[in-house]
Amino acid sequence: MCGIVGYIGNKEAFPILIKGLKRLEYRGYDSAGIALLNGDLNVFKKAGKVSELEKITNGKSVGANIGIGHTRWATHGEPNDVNAHPHLSQSNELAIIHNGIIENYAAIKAELEKRGYNFQSDTDTEVLINLIEEVRKTEKSSLEDAVRVALNEVVGAYAIVILDKKDPNHLIAARKGSPLVIGIGEDEFYIASDASPIIEYTQNVIYLDDQEYASVHRDGTYVIKTLGNVEKSHAIQKLELSLEAIEKGGYEHFMLKEIHEQPKALEDAMRGRMNALQGWIKLGGLSEYLSRIENAERFVITACGTSWHSGLIGEYLIEDLARVPVEVEYASEFRYRNPIIKESDVVFAISQSGETADTLAAIELAKERQALIYGICNVIGSSIARVSHAGSYTHAGPEIGVASTKAFSTQITLLTLIALQIAQSKGTISTSRLRTILYEMENIPKKIKETLELDSQIKELAAIYKDARNFLYLGRGYNFPVALEGALKLKEISYIHAEGYPAAEMKHGPIALIDEEMPVVFLATNQSAYEKIVSNVQEVKARKGKIIAVVNKGDTQIRALADHVIEVPETEEVLSPLVTIVPLQLLAYHIAIMRGCNVDQPRNLAKSVTVE
Ligand code: M6R
Repeated sequence: MCGIVGYIGNKEAFPILIKGLKRLEYRGYDSAGIALLNGDLNVFKKAGKVSELEKITNGKSVGANIGIGHTRWATHGEPNDVNAHPHLSQSNELAIIHNGIIENYAAIKAELEKRGYNFQSDTDTEVLINLIEEVRKTEKSSLEDAVRVALNEVVGAYAIVILDKKDPNHLIAARKGSPLVIGIGEDEFYIASDASPIIEYTQNVIYLDDQEYASVHRDGTYVIKTLGNVEKSHAIQKLELSLEAIEKGGYEHFMLKEIHEQPKALEDAMRGRMNALQGWIKLGGLSEYLSRIENAERFVITACGTSWHSGLIGEYLIEDLARVPVEVEYASEFRYRNPIIKESDVVFAISQSGETADTLAAIELAKERQALIYGICNVIGSSIARVSHAGSYTHAGPEIGVASTKAFSTQITLLTLIALQIAQSKGTISTSRLRTILYEMENIPKKIKETLELDSQIKELAAIYKDARNFLYLGRGYNFPVALEGALKLKEISYIHAEGYPAAEMKHGPIALIDEEMPVVFLATNQSAYEKIVSNVQEVKARKGKIIAVVNKGDTQIRALADHVIEVPETEEVLSPLVTIVPLQLLAYHIAIMRGCNVDQPRNLAKSVTVE
C-alpha cells in the first residue's frame, strides 16, 4: 500500500528518489518523505503528494549519494507530517521506510516505553525502528544482526529499507508479505516496491523472497540472507518493462491511457495462446496441470474488487462452456470462514498486482489444504505469481491508474481461454462453437477500438449526469458482473454513490430508489435475455428513472424506451463484457474529470492493497 525506494551509489540520490516516488505514488499518496545521508541525516516529510514534498525541499541542501524515500497510504495514524515516513530511531541514528503492518506493534511499543523510548508518531514503523535500535544496543550487535533479530520478533507484513547514519556505505532491505525489488547497477543499488523507479537506470534486478533481507554496499557487493541467517543466492533477472509503458504517452491520465490500451492489451493476452483457424488454445500453465484441472470436482475463484468481478464472469464462462461447478469468493471472506477445500479442488486466484494481502492469505489457506492454486496476475514476478502452483500472466502491461481497466478485460480474456481450453479437453464444446468463439475473440480488439470512438458521445452524457447523487447499473447474465464493475468504477473515482444489480433483482428492493433523479444504466446487449431486459427497462421507465442503455448497434426496441443509448458492436454473448465495460469505464472517467476528481489517485485508495 505504500511505495518505498532507496538508492546507494555515486549518483545524486535526491532526483532518483523523487522520480521513483512519483512512479510509486499509485501505491499510496497521502504523505511522502525522504531521508538523505551526507554527514548529517536530513529528513524531509510532508502530508500530501510527492509534489508537496518537493516544495518543502526547495532551496534546501539535498546533496547525497545515499537515501531512502516513501510515499504513504496510512494504516496506523492519520496522514500528517509526523506520521509520514521515514521514521527515525530515538537516537536519530537509524532511519526506516516501511510498507506493510506490524501487527504486534502495541505490545512491543509498551515494552520499549518501559525502557525509556518516546514516540513521536502513531505509527507501527517507528516502533520497529526503535526495536531494531534497542536490539543493536543491548546485544551490541551489528545493524544486520539487529534487523534480523527484530524481524524475527515482529508479526505482520513489511518491506523495509534502513539507513544508518554511522554507515554511509550500506543499506539494509527486508521483506515479508510486501514486494521488494533490488536493481543492480555499476557499484550502485536501487531498492523499490516495484521495478518502475529502477527501469531507467538498470535492467538487472533481484526479487527478494519473503523472510529475506539484503545488505547492499557502496562498493557494489551485496549479500542476501534469510531471517534464519542462511545465505541465499538469487539469479539476477532482466527487466522486460519499458519506460514508455509506465509513462502517460500523451494521455492526460493513466486511466484514460489504460482504457485506450485495451485493444492492444487483449491482443497481448491472446498472443501465442490460441489459433482460431487451427482451432486450438494452449495456456502454458494450464496445459501442465490439465489432467488435474480437468478432473477437479469444482473450481473456486478467489479475488478482491475488480478482480472479483472478473472472477464472476469466469464463473459464468467456466460453468457455461466447461461444465465444471465454480464458486466465486471474496478472498477476505474465504480466508476467515473456514471454507471446505478439498485436494480435488482447483483455486483460481485473480489479482492485477499479485500482491493483494487477502488474496495471498486465501491462497495460503487453500494450499495448506492441498488444493491446486492457479494464479492469474498481471505483475510479473509478483507474490501471487510466485506462490501459485501454476498460472498465467494477463500481459496487460503496467496498470498505474488506481481504477482497474485493462487488467479487468485481460483477466476476462484469460478466463475465457481457460474455460475454452478445459471445455475442448473435456469435450463439452463442439468444434464449430469453439471456432466461432475463437474467431470472435480475434475480432474483439477491433470492436473495442470501435467502442472507444464513442468517447465524445459518452462525454456529452457525462456532462448531463455529472451532478447525479446516485446511479444504478443493471445487467443480466454475463452483463451482471459488468454492472457491478461499472458501478465500482463510477463510485471509486467520482465519489458518486452507485450500485450494480442483476436487472431482475431490481424489483426486490432497489426499485424503491427510482425516481426522475435516478440515472439507471442498463447493459442490454444480451441476445438470450433481451426481452426480459426490455421488461426491466419498462419498469424503470414507468417510474420515471433516466435510462442510459448500452445496446447492440441497430437496436430499435430499447432505443424507443431509453433516454440515451450507447450503441456498441454486437459480439458473442460470452464475450460481451469485453465490449460493454468500455463505455462504462469512459462514463466514469468523464464524470470524475468533470467533478474535478483525481481519477488516477482517488481519495483513500491505493493501487496495491497489501494490508488486510
Ligand atoms: O491487484 P488486485 O487485482 O488484487 O486488486 C484487487 C482490488 O483492490 C482492485 O481490483 C480494486 O478493486 C480496483 N482498484 C478497482 O478499480
